[in-house]
Amino acid sequence: MEGKREVEIAPSAELAAVRGAEIFLEGARRAIRERNRFTVALSGGSSPAPLFRKIAGQAAASHIEWSAVHLFWADERCVPPDHPDSNFRMASELLLSRLPAPGPVVHRIAGELPPGEAARRYEEELSRTFPHTGIPVFDMILLGVGSDGHTASLFPEMEAWEFQERFAIAVYVEKMASHRVTLTLPVINNARHVLFLVTGAGKADIVVEILAGEDRARYPAARIAPTKGVLTWLLDADAGRNLRHHHGKM
Ligand code: 6PG
Repeated sequence: MEGKREVEIAPSAELAAVRGAEIFLEGARRAIRERNRFTVALSGGSSPAPLFRKIAGQAAASHIEWSAVHLFWADERCVPPDHPDSNFRMASELLLSRLPAPGPVVHRIAGELPPGEAARRYEEELSRTFPHTGIPVFDMILLGVGSDGHTASLFPEMEAWEFQERFAIAVYVEKMASHRVTLTLPVINNARHVLFLVTGAGKADIVVEILAGEDRARYPAARIAPTKGVLTWLLDADAGRNLRHHHGKM
């Protein structure tokens, strides 16, 4: 059985970030109340930057016990943690360094290691954090979408098996000449809540393709459908501008 899907369109990118922060903070409070911890995987790219700033801005007043928050990443570029392309670095600068002490438990992907080794270590870290669940059950996974329909580092060009194997894998993205480590589909689809944050007119076409297109199965982002959890697509007006005519099909 598939979980619930909701699509929310905020009037601007700024307000999408405000809403995303609200969803994040509420998710954290609830998970800590119910299970004493909040396990969340962040993404990289440019879209989450305003979201991280909003979360950081509200962190002190949020009544969240930040040391009960476990931060993971949906994917990471294979570069050292101080490299400009590092997803860890971005989250660290915009969010982590601005949280009140004691801060979250950080489970970063070791992008400085050879990719296969980084993926293996990340899987070990996942198994340690989710020891009794088989496939990890994240409370929340934040995702973005590329204009080619990729999400995390799951790309349309990848082989079918790569989507199903293991908890985390190393991938080489030829068109970006980039080694990455990514969570796999089974892990993402096992989360309690998956939140896509997609902003900007450059994403308007792919958003319609993914949410309402005939051919959507070819886009990894369209294969994200948490089996028991909630799926939220949070868009700004620019990214959602072509959706209005498609509501019937969604
Ligand atoms: C990454 C990501 C990736 C990202 C999309 C969207 O490390 O690049 O996690 O999946 O979310 O590429 O990126 P933008 O937000 O930059 O458009």
